[in-house]
Formats: sequence, structure tokens, C-alpha cells
Amino acid sequence: MRIKYTIPIVFFLALVIIEKENKIISRVSDKLALKQTPQTPLQPRGFSPLLLKQNVSLSPPSKDFLLMKRRLENYSVHKKVRKPGRKHILLLATTRTGSSFVGEFFNQHGDDMFYLFEPLWHVEKMLALETGGTNATAATKAYRDVLQQLFLCDFSLLESFIDPLPTDHITTSLFRRESSSSLCEESVCGPVIKGVFERYHCRTRRCGPLNLTMASMSCLQKAHSVIKSVRVRQLENLRPLAEDPRLNIRFIQLVRDPRAVLASRMVAFAARYKNWKEWAMGGDVPIDDDEVRKLKSNCDNIRLSAEVGLRQPPWLRGRYMLVRYEDIARFPMRKAAEMYKFSGIPFTPQVKSWILKNTQASKETSGVYSTQKNSSEQVEKWRFSLPFKIAQVVQRVCGPTLKLFGYKFVSSEKMLTNKSVSLIEDKVFKFYRLKQS
Ligand SMILES: *[C@@H]1O[C@H](CO)[C@@H](O)[C@H](O)[C@H]1NC(C)=O
Ligand SMILES: *[C@@H]1O[C@H](CO)[C@@H](O)[C@H](O)[C@H]1NC(C)=O
Ligand SMILES: *[C@@H]1O[C@H](CO)[C@@H](O)[C@H](O)[C@H]1NC(C)=O
Ligand SMILES: *[C@@H]1O[C@H](CO)[C@@H](O)[C@H](O)[C@H]1NC(C)=O
Ligand SMILES: *[C@@H]1O[C@H](CO)[C@@H](O)[C@H](O)[C@H]1NC(C)=O
Repeated sequence: MRIKYTIPIVFFLALVIIEKENKIISRVSDKLALKQTPQTPLQPRGFSPLLLKQNVSLSPPSKDFLLMKRRLENYSVHKKVRKPGRKHILLLATTRTGSSFVGEFFNQHGDDMFYLFEPLWHVEKMLALETGGTNATAATKAYRDVLQQLFLCDFSLLESFIDPLPTDHITTSLFRRESSSSLCEESVCGPVIKGVFERYHCRTRRCGPLNLTMASMSCLQKAHSVIKSVRVRQLENLRPLAEDPRLNIRFIQLVRDPRAVLASRMVAFAARYKNWKEWAMGGDVPIDDDEVRKLKSNCDNIRLSAEVGLRQPPWLRGRYMLVRYEDIARFPMRKAAEMYKFSGIPFTPQVKSWILKNTQASKETSGVYSTQKNSSEQVEKWRFSLPFKIAQVVQRVCGPTLKLFGYKFVSSEKMLTNKSVSLIEDKVFKFYRLKQS
């Protein structure tokens, strides 16, 4: 104790080093404890194996290390008692495709649903810190492993990506906790702690910091689990999840007209699209520009995933559904019913009433399954904000994607802004349903 006060700087440095080591050790111990999990080859992510080895062998197992091990042992116990016949759905999308809205279709399901909103946010953030976000292999693997564990109600790997690292499974830093009803229900709410954590609460009730052990226990009680993510690049990367017999997983891929996505991004991230605005004013669009390349790569990833899904290879048969945001906006109730049918999860009155409240479905006269003229106007609003020149760029780099999903090309500014021309072709995407169990 004396040293601590006489050499404060050394102590501080030591603390920093210990903290850093603990983080690394914790991730190593994750790997060790999870060795029995099939389809999860255990390799260090993102940092050099040599560095890892040194760090582990140089430091004796700390108290934290032993605690972490015990924690993980307890998580393994939880794994064995999940409900039989449980449904696991992954809602895959990209940003600005309305995935938060569609996620609500499941979040609002009721007491038997465990819904998680963008848990991979933490993984992306941590990998960006550690590797500059450049190691795509590491990200792919981390995303897959975290998703697999979360479907099994095991938060330990996700925990290791939360910054600051949770203590005793308690965290105040879970990204958008309030967007998951299941993390705010009474059994997961936790006592409010006066002072430090007071600002940390849910929308529906005041809760204390999130206790992930409680979250895990609640998850195990639920009949169904849905996770929404905009971070998975390729459906193919998730093949091990589809082949994990414990999960019986189904994928719903949500897509949207890339021109609408870009229009929305240009509003949301105006500064980043300064160049685009200049191009629209008359400048030439350099096709090798970074943002153009990113747009192309996004379009290609979405299309490749959908192509795999629609081709229905044996590992994916009956497990894939493609949904266009435009169809959901126009026929919310009908599309929600279809998604639920595909999922094998009961379409509850709570969901129906949420949809009625949050769309204009309530104004329909012919029951809940008819069209929404107004929503269809809403869904094509981007046509009046996106300059024709930019629409052309999107059509050039995302052509095959537009074609696959049935989004009509525009050949003139007049056509772009002509309300009587719809750019959404009627298109039915065939998918097979597994026999419901
Ligand atoms: C990227 O991650 C993979 C998997 O974790 C690892 O094997 C590889 O060495 C990493 N590459 C770089 C350049 O760090
Ligand atoms: C693990 O579970 C056991 C038995 O329920 C409990 O006594 C122990 O405190 C738990 N360990 C941790 C670190 O939570
Ligand atoms: C977190 O929840 C678990 C399970 O209910 C409980 O045993 C544990 O004491 C809680 N942790 C804290 C710090 O309250
Ligand atoms: C759309 O809704 C607005 C008000 O909510 C209404 O004034 C308008 O007539 C509607 N348009 C159509 C085509 O139904
Ligand atoms: C809009 O499209 C319709 C249908 O193709 C066409 O009849 C009409 O002339 C167009 N309006 C304008 C202003 O171009």
C-alpha cells in the first residue's frame, strides 16, 4: 500500500498494464472455456498470437482470471437448459433500410420473445480499436461466434467486447439497451442505484445497470429469440450457424432500393457526402472515389447474400427469406404476417396492434391485409431529393442489385420525379418453409 502512494506514476502504469492484460486474458479464457462448442474453431482474433502467448505466460493467473473462468463455467451450465423447439431468427440488413422499424415487429411480440438490437455494435467498435477495423477475417469470425453464443443465451463473448469490460457481469454501457424490450422487463431491470448509475434506465421503467447474468437467465426462459444486425457482410459467412443443430436458425434479409438508401445517407451524414453534392451540381463523378467504391461493395455484398439465399443451397434450404423494405412500408400487416409464418413464431395481438398504431394500416377499410397508398408515397419520397445524376451513379455501380430486387431504372430526371411511374416492380421471392416443429 505504501508503494502505491510513494510512486504513484509507476502504480498507475502498472494498473494500465494489468488492465490491458486482464482484457487479453479474459478473451483467452473465453476461448478456453468454450472449447467444447462445435463449429467454433478457437483462434485469437485480431492480435498477434505471439503477443498473446507472452502476455499469458509472463503473468501468473490473477484473481480476475480465476473469477472470469468461474463466470464462464456458470454460463456453460445455463446453456444446457434452453427451451426445446425454440426459434432463432437473425434479421439481416444494412443501415438505412428500415431495420429498426422491422425489428420492432419482433421486439413487440410480448413475454415469450428475447430480442436483441445490434449487439455486434460492440464487436465492430472493439475491433476498430484493436486492428483499425481492417481485418475482415477477424470481424467475420467474431460476428459469427458472438451471434452463435447469444442465440444460446450466453453473453460471455459479447461481454469481452464491451468497453469498459463489465464487472461481475454488470454493465452500464450496453449499446441501445432500451431498444430491446427484453432487457428492460421487470426480471432484468435491476435495482436503481442512486447517484452514479441513475441516468441509466429503460424507456418503460427505471432500471439499474444491466446485469447480464439476469439477461442470460431471462433469455433461457423465452420460447423465441430474434437478433437484428446491420453488420454481417455475407450470408455465406454464417453457414456454421445454419448448420448448428442447437439453433434451428432462420435468416430474414431486409433490402431496400440502394438509391433510397443513398438519399437517406446523404441527409443523415451530410458532411461525408460533400463530394456527391458537388458532383450533382455539375462536376464529374470519379468512379474510383472511395465512397463510390464503398457503395459498390455494399451493393455487391447485399446481392451476393441474396443470391446465395435465393439459390437455396442444402445448408440454407427453408431457412432464408428475402423482404423488401418497400413492400413492408406498403403492406406492413401482410408482410409482418408472412415473416411470422416463415419464422414459425405466433403472430401475437400485441404485434398487430403495434403495427396498427405505427403505420396507417388502421385507416384501411378492407381489413388489415390491404395496401397503403400513403405509405407507398412515403417510401418513394427520396425521388424528389436525390439528384438525377447521383441516381445514375447508383444505377451504374449497383445495376445488378437493382435488377435482382426489382427496382426500376430511371432514364431521365422526368421519369425520376414522375409520381405516376412506380419504381418498385411487383416481385415475389420464392422461399421454402421448413416443416414447422
Ligand atoms: C486477421 O485475423 C485472423 C483471424 O483472427 C488472423 O488469423 C490473422 O492473422 C489476422 N491478420 C492480420 C493481418 O492481423
Ligand atoms: C457460479 O455458480 C455457483 C453455483 O450457483 C455460485 O456459487 C458461484 O458464486 C457462481 N460464480 C460466479 C462467479 O458467479
Ligand atoms: C446479477 O444477477 C444474478 C442473478 O440474479 C445475481 O445472482 C447477482 O447477484 C446479480 N449481481 C449483482 C451485482 O447484483
Ligand atoms: C395521405 O394522408 C394524408 C393525411 O394523412 C391525406 O391528406 C392524403 O389524402 C392521403 N393520400 C392518399 C393518397 O391516401
Ligand atoms: C408520367 O408518366 C406517365 C405514365 O408513363 C405519363 O403518361 C406522363 O405523361 C408522365 N408525366 C410527365 C410529366 O412526364
